[in-house]
Amino acid sequence: MKTIEEQGYHFEEWLTPAEIAKDVQQVADRISEDYKDKEPLFVIVLNGAFVFAADLIRSLKDVRCEMTFIRVSSYFGMSTTGQLQFIVPLQQVVENRDVIIVEDIVDSGLTIHQLKAHMRGLGATSVRVATMLFKPNKLEYDDAKPEYIGREITDEFVIGYGLDFDGFRRDLSSIYKVKE
Ligand code: IMP
Ligand code: MG
Repeated sequence: MKTIEEQGYHFEEWLTPAEIAKDVQQVADRISEDYKDKEPLFVIVLNGAFVFAADLIRSLKDVRCEMTFIRVSSYFGMSTTGQLQFIVPLQQVVENRDVIIVEDIVDSGLTIHQLKAHMRGLGATSVRVATMLFKPNKLEYDDAKPEYIGREITDEFVIGYGLDFDGFRRDLSSIYKVKE
């Protein structure tokens, strides 16, 4: 069992590169089927989703598509409702486009909930979400349930394959779960 330490926490390998590749291909196959007659715009959420997105788009079959990037952070001010801050705003027109938001992981769903509203407000024809990981037990926003999911996970914290712990460990090819 491969293990790794980060800032005093111990992690063990949960998904190998081969297992991740299978999950990604399964997502790509479904998107290829659903979008074969469309020209989707992938909106890739930085920083975490860049690894998953790079594999996903290269696993598609015959989907004429475009891609663009945004970087957001959900911060909580004085109020309890989170607000999305655009660190790298959307640079592409989404009006009349079939948008697929690409995320590394959906947790409370706040990020996706707000991004979907943002895209719809800008006139997107449709907005769906593809995520490598999804924590269904943590979901607080019903409309943020992703349409395309690599794998579901319970509440544990994970790193690797784009996912970070304070900015580090995105480079790991496997996904590691924190040990109790
Ligand atoms: P949400 O807006 O609550 O759904 O949060 C999603 C974001 O939280 C993801 O894009 C990640 O940046 C971060 N996140 C949630 N769970 C994890 C985890 O287990 N490892 C690393 N980042 C996580
Ligand atoms: Mg993220």
